[in-house]
Amino acid sequence: MDLRNKTICASGFHAPERGRIDVLDDALIEIGGDGAIAAIHRHGEPNYRTIRDAREASGELLTLPAGAYLLPGFVDLHVHAPQYPQLGSALDVPLEVWLHKYTFPLEARYEDLGFARQSYQPLVEDLLSNGTTTALYFATVHQEASRALVDICLEKGQRALVGKVVMDNEAECPDYYRDASPDAAVKGTREFIDYVRGHPGNGEGHVLPVVTPRFIPSCTDATLAELGAIVRECGCHVQTHCSESDWAHQYVLSRHGMTDAQSLDRFGLLGRRTVLAHSNFLTEADMETIRTRESAVAHCPISNVYFAGAVFPLRAALEKGIHVGLGTDVSGGPSVSMFENCRGAMLASRLLESGVDPGLPPEERGTFGTARIDFRDAFYVATAGGGIALDLPVGQFSPGYQFDAFVVDTTAEKGTIRLWEELDRGEDILQKIIYTASRANIGAVWVSGRSVA
Ligand code: GUN
Ligand code: FE
Repeated sequence: MDLRNKTICASGFHAPERGRIDVLDDALIEIGGDGAIAAIHRHGEPNYRTIRDAREASGELLTLPAGAYLLPGFVDLHVHAPQYPQLGSALDVPLEVWLHKYTFPLEARYEDLGFARQSYQPLVEDLLSNGTTTALYFATVHQEASRALVDICLEKGQRALVGKVVMDNEAECPDYYRDASPDAAVKGTREFIDYVRGHPGNGEGHVLPVVTPRFIPSCTDATLAELGAIVRECGCHVQTHCSESDWAHQYVLSRHGMTDAQSLDRFGLLGRRTVLAHSNFLTEADMETIRTRESAVAHCPISNVYFAGAVFPLRAALEKGIHVGLGTDVSGGPSVSMFENCRGAMLASRLLESGVDPGLPPEERGTFGTARIDFRDAFYVATAGGGIALDLPVGQFSPGYQFDAFVVDTTAEKGTIRLWEELDRGEDILQKIIYTASRANIGAVWVSGRSVA
């Protein structure tokens, strides 16, 4: 049921700040006509009963059943929409081979608008039904297909940030898949921004345009500089890949004589609304630049196992105050599930801390001292951290934030959560949800109070 101008009575969890889980116990969340949370009333407040009875009497109350928990919708900070057809395959070669052998040929097919619609529709549906209410998408170089992704997100009600991908460097991009010229890349970006902002179905701004240089190797310097100028003019979001693998990192060092972060900064591409995917090989100076620019990192733990050859030091980045969210990197990461990526982030951080070489003594095996993150940090980066990274009021249950949320049914028979009444209380329930939930445990999903799955 749609929840605009209604109230939901729910137990659930959110992580408004890193390290603290706020447990909601039959809380009343009032949603306004604009889809934002107008007020939250907790059990024990003096007028709690009165409000609850009044909403119930007027038919404006939805009460979640026992065993159902409300979570903020996931924010997936890094999705390659056109790569969905190869999800779960093509993970046998390094990044630079994978791009030319599998990924560019697949993305080139989006020249065909019919193919684009056929693959984008189930992707958006599957993300929503897995609880992802906000996604930051790379589309392809194609204007029409990128627009189709915008249309589909608007039709299905997903909050989305979409970029027409820029790839104009002849030396690194194949003839069959690149922008026709640097001018065409820049003009195409401008036209795409205008399309999204002027879309008649986008009055509430649920879809935002993103300036999207794929990564430095795929772009010419002239175009990177032009994209920086567009960002200054339009104030839009920026997304790109940053220092992902040894190869990608070294490529930029040898072409520009500096790191990705330094080079992007020089082009005016590091700002409050910039999201840098991966960022595994950041130097201390890069981290400081990203922090002072208030840019964000999209940590993609599962993808990094296949392509990065390194683990992003998530805990260190969070402790430095860098904005970090979580990304699936479909299809570099073979899962659309943000639960799976939370687990991936926890696993990777434990391996970073312990090290992996049994030939070394334990005290020499790990790299970073305390590097582990727990379910609280994983949940934070998957929700509130992503909202902060995007500078959008999503990812937490607080007045003024959009009601983007989903229900986890811990009693679903075909699900994978098994709670024990006498053992599991409070945060422990969230811990079990993060570690064991699957698609069958996910119930209703809302974006700005509208039912979307
Ligand atoms: N670097 C440039 N393009 C890509 C891509 O599509 N996926 C990943 N993981 N890294 C990239
Ligand atoms: Fe990627």
